[in-house]
Amino acid sequence: MSAWEGAGRRVHLQEVGTRDGLQAEKAFVPTEAKIALIDELSLTGLTKIEVSSFTSPKAIPALADADAVMQGIRREPGVVYSALVPNVRGAERAILARTDELNLVMSASGTHNLTNLRMTRDQSFAALAEVAALARPSGTAVNISLSCAFGCPMEGEVPPSSVLDWCARYIGELGVDHITLCDTTGMAFPGQVAGLAGAFRQRWPQAELTLHLHNTRGLGLANTLAGLDAGADRFDASLGGIGGCPYAPGATGNVCTEELAHALELMGFQTGLDLPRLIAAARRLPGMLGHEVPSQIVKAGRRLDLHPVPADFETIRQRALAR
Ligand code: COA
Ligand code: ZN
Repeated sequence: MSAWEGAGRRVHLQEVGTRDGLQAEKAFVPTEAKIALIDELSLTGLTKIEVSSFTSPKAIPALADADAVMQGIRREPGVVYSALVPNVRGAERAILARTDELNLVMSASGTHNLTNLRMTRDQSFAALAEVAALARPSGTAVNISLSCAFGCPMEGEVPPSSVLDWCARYIGELGVDHITLCDTTGMAFPGQVAGLAGAFRQRWPQAELTLHLHNTRGLGLANTLAGLDAGADRFDASLGGIGGCPYAPGATGNVCTEELAHALELMGFQTGLDLPRLIAAARRLPGMLGHEVPSQIVKAGRRLDLHPVPADFETIRQRALAR
């Protein structure tokens, strides 16, 4: 089946705007506003929302209120409320706040891992092992996000073999087979996405693979289609297309949730999303953040959101008919 024909195939778009998006905002978004946004997103048909991150408030001040946000949201049945966790301290906070899924993070690039998490990759792996062991008895699900899987803004190319080796260790040594391959600064291109996602799928057909793509160089949708073609069916995306890692130079927004939902539905995929409701939520973002957002759908509306003809249309028509 070609990526051009969805033929009813189910695709999961997982919202990360309230984590990846808000983490980079300079002005602090009030806790109540974050809760209201997540409560609204819970009603749009999303199956997973990354609510916040339980990181050091010094590293990510914009999300210092993760505990209050996670405790304050309304839980909609069928929605997994996830949060990013960098260490044991974060995991303890997240579990206490009743987080459904811990999204553990490390980078495929040694340089980015040190910049972002202040640890070597081996130290991060040991921390992930500790967190996975902590999560098990509490029944909390675990996903591992591997940053810079398609390239590092400081090191350059990241060999696909090393990405797959890390995945093999997560699955084999930690027993975690929910894995997200992240294109942290939009360095991926379609052939590369198809190659890596295809190799992952072939080696671990039962694992739950998510692609986390950024639209930094305008390749977000093309990379999504390449991923779909290679068998991926879960994609992180952010409302309004906001986002970016503050510790990755040149990072900008994720692929945009409402743009992807709009495109994929037109192509015949089934996203399960209430697009008008999603767009209405995205249109409230500029007021909330104090700046425009990248989303083209916020600006242009859906393909068949029509505009009225000009006021002098009847005169134009009469004149044309009289010629
Ligand atoms: N939650 C709250 N506070 C935390 C914490 C957590 N998960 N982890 C560490 N801290 C606090 C420590 O208590 C310490 O506080 P103090 O200075 O008041 O004593 C301070 O943060 C530094 O702790 P330390 O263990 O030395 O951490 P570090 O400075 O080496 O930073 C991380 C390591 C991982 C905690 C930090 O780099 C981080 O949170 N990074 C997240 C980056 C991120 O989310 N990037 C974007 C997503 S990819
Ligand atoms: Zn990201």
